Amino acid sequence: MSIHSEVKRVTTHILQEMKQRGEKISMLTSYDYSMAQIVDGAGIDIILVGDSASNVMAGHETTLPITLDQMIYHACGVVKAAKRCLVVVDMPFGSYQGNSKEALHSAIRIMKESGGHAVKLEGGAEIKESIIRILSAGVPVMGHLGLTPQSIYKFGTYNVRAKEEAEANKLIEDAKLLEEIGCFALVLEKIPSELAKKVAETINIPVIGIGAGADVDGQVLVVHDMLGINKDFHPRFLRRYADLHTIMTDAVSNYIKDVKSLDFPNSKECY
Ligand code: KIV
Repeated sequence: MSIHSEVKRVTTHILQEMKQRGEKISMLTSYDYSMAQIVDGAGIDIILVGDSASNVMAGHETTLPITLDQMIYHACGVVKAAKRCLVVVDMPFGSYQGNSKEALHSAIRIMKESGGHAVKLEGGAEIKESIIRILSAGVPVMGHLGLTPQSIYKFGTYNVRAKEEAEANKLIEDAKLLEEIGCFALVLEKIPSELAKKVAETINIPVIGIGAGADVDGQVLVVHDMLGINKDFHPRFLRRYADLHTIMTDAVSNYIKDVKSLDFPNSKECY
């Protein structure tokens, strides 16, 4: 039996225990009440209200346009549904980078207005002051290194990060720093598996990977990708657990057919 199958609420403390016991942590995104009910009900450890909502829910090309108000809106629905998992909310681009006071203000708005349990920020040393200030208010912080989509215009591509020694060394130093200043966990996105393994062995906080191989403490995917709702996204790291695009398209087509042919509603479906 897993350490947490009987717990009322997954906490940052429980995640730390899971790392120590070698029990893998499961994490998926959700952006609304209905999806979060399914994901939490299935027993996920962490729901991330990711700023990938910018792509998945709003149809933007990048994560940059989503606003703090919009993230809070998404998080509110998720928090209402999440009875057992820890809910982590992404701080959107522009809400924490420049000024630690503004970062704290943004984090407090997320916690107060959505009821989320923790926030996630992208970056290392360059956002140290913001993280320290948020932590000083008692808000748990999850870090995010490797491919950080809010910096897409700096990187230029969504290719694997930290393949070169200099970038890999900076990533290791940033991971150590995030642990030292008090982050409770770290997401590593799209980096070589060997590097992710090294980070997970070097730091004591849970390391959760997406495209970072198997030798980390947990895995995260975007729920619409793993359910096959998005059909045009095929990175190597993605495993599809369903083909909901086909199932939903067939259901809608059948409904249209039944309406047009006067088959729906039938006598039993009327008052
Ligand atoms: O926004 C998001 O969905 C994320 C995950 C990819 C980790 O940050």
